[in-house]
Amino acid sequence: MTAGIDLGQPQAQSVRSDEDVVRVRQLVRAVAVASKLSLVDQTKVVTAASELARNTLVYGGGGSVEVTVVDNGRRNGVQIVFADSGPGIADLDLAMTDGYTSGGGLGLGLSGSRRLVDEFQIETSAETGTRITVTKWSR
Ligand SMILES: Nc1ncnc2c1ncn2[C@@H]1O[C@H](COP(=O)(O)OP(=O)(O)OP(=O)(O)O)[C@@H](O)[C@H]1O
Ligand SMILES: [Mg+2]
Repeated sequence: MTAGIDLGQPQAQSVRSDEDVVRVRQLVRAVAVASKLSLVDQTKVVTAASELARNTLVYGGGGSVEVTVVDNGRRNGVQIVFADSGPGIADLDLAMTDGYTSGGGLGLGLSGSRRLVDEFQIETSAETGTRITVTKWSR
């Protein structure tokens, strides 16, 4: 159930630890259930959120996640913003390439996440850090 979650408001979660990444997963799952996403779509958006929150922690030096129920008049969905004040992503095309990692990972977090959601937007710079917005719509 989603007791305690006011879906009219964006839900914020800071990302400072592995436990916080788990909290992000739980929050996104709860909001995805409440927005009536299918089980498959819930799992896709939770998986994407988990990868992006882990990047926020590992590469961004921590940051924040905000989860919002959105409605485009025809469908509702889940929108998630991941923000950090880290070093930014110098070469975005390279970072989005399957298998590219600067940190000994699999290099599938960004590229895989993009495939799991309907909308994927990145703003990144050395001055402002990285802000990634993803949306998953109900079908
Ligand atoms: N928030 C971020 N700030 C700075 N750099 C980032 C951020 N997120 C991703 N990157 C850069 O993009 C690269 C690719 O990220 P991606 O998630 O695809 O792979 P990974 O984290 O290295 O490995 P994996 O996620 O598969 O374990 C990272 O190695 C890192 O260099
Ligand atoms: Mg990653």
